[in-house]
Amino acid sequence: MSFAPSAVLVTGGAGFIGSNYLLHVVPRYADTLFVNLDALTYAGNLANLTDIEARDNYRFVHGDVTDADLLSRLFAEYGFDAVVHFAAESHVDRSILDPTAFVRTNVHGTLVLMQAARAAWKGSEDICRFHHISTDEVFGSLGPEGHFTADTSYAPRSPYAASKASADHLVRAFATTYGLPVVITNTSNNYGPWQFPEKLIPLVIRNAVAGEPIPVYGRGENVRDWLFVEDHVEALDRVLRSAPNGSTWLIGGDQEISNLELVERLLDEVDRQTGSQVGTRRPLIRFVTDRPGHDFRYALDSSPIQEQLGWQPKHDLEKGLQRTVRWYLDHIRWMENILDGEYRSYYATQYGSRGMN
Ligand code: NAD
Ligand code: DAU
Repeated sequence: MSFAPSAVLVTGGAGFIGSNYLLHVVPRYADTLFVNLDALTYAGNLANLTDIEARDNYRFVHGDVTDADLLSRLFAEYGFDAVVHFAAESHVDRSILDPTAFVRTNVHGTLVLMQAARAAWKGSEDICRFHHISTDEVFGSLGPEGHFTADTSYAPRSPYAASKASADHLVRAFATTYGLPVVITNTSNNYGPWQFPEKLIPLVIRNAVAGEPIPVYGRGENVRDWLFVEDHVEALDRVLRSAPNGSTWLIGGDQEISNLELVERLLDEVDRQTGSQVGTRRPLIRFVTDRPGHDFRYALDSSPIQEQLGWQPKHDLEKGLQRTVRWYLDHIRWMENILDGEYRSYYATQYGSRGMN
């Protein structure tokens, strides 16, 4: 299977993974038009895209994936033959504080987007493609052993994970019922440049540089599998262009580590790259009240994408963390610019009563 789209609607392209995706594909496929539709919520930042904003094959549209009229106008104007759907509310802790926006964007937004694609692609399904970006969290929580596979039953446990699981089910239902040409990818924890500092890795780097306390939930024993975002976007490009219609792919980094060990390695790397004695920042760690329903561990079996599509991650955790710390140290101003009043008020709500001192 080989698919070379001519006009791609990318939703959520001003967010973390969407930005990295556009920075990868826009220069690479000069004959393909990429239209980035993003509502610019707190997580969307056009400053991520300055390297490509003037390219002829890139356009930005400020708008919402729940806006059916806008979507039908965009499909008519640009004649998209592919959609790559990143737009979502993506932070588990915010979904626990208030799930409403998660259902609106992640579930309803996905539905509205698919309705627009379905109407526009009637009769041309075999030359079009809807790529839905999802997460390993739809499968629930693992114990110390085992991996999720594409056949694992869904068992989401947070409002975020439930909203993503609902969207995945709707995507498969549209494929079965209406013949919408879909591919789905479920990915593990991404890290790297342009990630909003509410997520663990950039939050730790930011607080470490500022000399502020580092919140570790519970005892830091939960395990995540980390994937460098540039490796992820390479995998996404491969799936869009070469995976069979209707297929699902799990994309993991095969780099599992407990949160405490990760935080310690990050702090040591910040020490190293700022010329401090290694270990100086470890006393900043604070064990705080755990996340409710905190999933213990995620791990994906990525062997199908490695064996069938020939993808391999290029970064192990050591190399990825070195590059990530370097990037944030070089982009302190970018980070401070996005930490506005909304972030500070979220931070106070999220951490104020958790036992940080
Ligand atoms: P992010 O929060 O950094 O970015 C989300 C983007 O979507 C932002 O630019 C935001 O402005 C935009 N957006 C939000 N609501 C919108 C709406 N209603 N209409 C249009 N745009 C809207 O998210 P991310 O970390 O880049 O994640 C991207 C996708 O990948 C999400 O679907 C997420 O569920 C999935 N995912 C993320 C990870 C991860 O580790 N970050 C891992 C697996 C899957
Ligand atoms: O697994 C894929 C998912 O990874 C994506 O679908 C989500 O969009 C993305 O946000 C991420 O979810 P997590 O909840 O795993 O990521 P987060 O960075 O929020 O937290 C990583 C781990 O660190 C998790 O076990 C909770 C813990 N944590 C997090 C924060 C923010 C802390 O101990 N302290 C913190 O302050």
